[in-house]
Amino acid sequence: MTDQTRRTFLKQAALGTAAVLAYPTSTVLGANDRVRVGMIGVGDRGNDLLGQIRSVHGVELVAMADVYSRRRDEAKRKVPGIQTFDDHRRLLDMKDIDAVIVASPLHIHARHFLDTLAAGKDLYSEKTMTWSIPEADKCLAAAKESNRIVQIGLQYQSSGALIDAKQWIKDGWLGKVTHVESWMSRNTPHGKGQWVRPVPSDCTAQNVNWSAFLNGRPDRPFDPFKLINWRLFWEFAGGNCAENMVHQIAWIMGALDLPLPSAAYMSGGVFSEKDGREVPDTIAVTLDFPNIVVTWQSTFSNKHYELGDRILGSDGTLEHHFEEALEYWPEKTNRPDGQSTRGSSHNQNHMGNWIDCVRSRGTPNAPPEIGYRSAIAVHMSNLSYKNKRRITLEEAKAVTPEY
Ligand SMILES: NC(=O)c1ccc[n+]([C@@H]2O[C@H](COP(=O)([O-])OP(=O)(O)OC[C@H]3O[C@@H](n4cnc5c(N)ncnc54)[C@H](O)[C@@H]3O)[C@@H](O)[C@H]2O)c1
Repeated sequence: MTDQTRRTFLKQAALGTAAVLAYPTSTVLGANDRVRVGMIGVGDRGNDLLGQIRSVHGVELVAMADVYSRRRDEAKRKVPGIQTFDDHRRLLDMKDIDAVIVASPLHIHARHFLDTLAAGKDLYSEKTMTWSIPEADKCLAAAKESNRIVQIGLQYQSSGALIDAKQWIKDGWLGKVTHVESWMSRNTPHGKGQWVRPVPSDCTAQNVNWSAFLNGRPDRPFDPFKLINWRLFWEFAGGNCAENMVHQIAWIMGALDLPLPSAAYMSGGVFSEKDGREVPDTIAVTLDFPNIVVTWQSTFSNKHYELGDRILGSDGTLEHHFEEALEYWPEKTNRPDGQSTRGSSHNQNHMGNWIDCVRSRGTPNAPPEIGYRSAIAVHMSNLSYKNKRRITLEEAKAVTPEY
């Protein structure tokens, strides 16, 4: 039997032919088949994900693509025999890759997302789903049209805390919720900027496919600082809303089943990290939803309160600290007999959940739809900041993104 017919046969044996006909045979994996995975963009986060995917049972990491030779050499040392490319299209040409993990910089997410689906592969794409609203529209539409399994790297969507929060809200423990406050804060030693990375000595024009990194941004001579520190510049990044607010807003949207925000206002600036960066280090965002306002604040020069979310209801309060259990306190005014409680549901392995869905063709915990809603909240906030005024959803959708 060829690999393909063996897979089809195993799946038919497991599920029956009717179930198999729902998907093209190229997606059909038997319960015992290895899922063959490729990775695009294996820098800091990609290396975390590389470790995660290798620990999922029944997965083989067969190839990776990265524009920087150092990353390819590191991957070969970690995964002997892996194929490497400096152009993601060569990886997507590989017929025997079932699924692809994307952990490239933000401004290339949409391209890698769309190319991966067009190549017929399932996809795990890091957050934020895209760099702009028009790209988010395109990616959501492409995901809906395809029958590929897409998981966004919003790992808190796989948290036990989200299961507990949804249940408690459904059970009426919070009563009427009109306000959610969330915050995220960090600090660094004096003179060391948040996110700034040293440029390795081998980061030279010879070792980097610079035009693939630029991905259509205006051409210019090789700039190693921007390759390594793309996060600091709007043309490649979305600031801390794209890096961190997105996780929290996705979690809050999931817990309360919120739609797209109707309006956003963001203030702040580059107040503490005066190192030539463009994206603000100090941020206060207000997002309007029907009868609910969500605020998110962030600073890079004080981490006393670290990060968390508080959902404030007439009958109770939920407090979510990411690595700890969810906590609930009743509002004695309206729930005099209510008891304080801590969440107990277990976290799921987000990567494992994706691979389970690649096999079962089920819906993963962070499908493109939550990737989309959270990305729109990020982009509305950034557009408000750049325009120094409150911006509605309609206005944000009409903006042509500028580099
Ligand atoms: N889910 C999380 O908790 C989490 C945490 C950290 C980062 N992230 C996300 O992961 C992504 C990557 O962040 P990072 O810190 O690893 O960045 P990074 O710069 O360390 O890694 C990006 C890698 O992509 C490579 N690259 C650049 N252009 C490419 C192209 N056209 N094709 C292939 N490879 C290319 C770079 O050489 C680099 O190795 C970002 O979107 C970031 O927001 C998610």
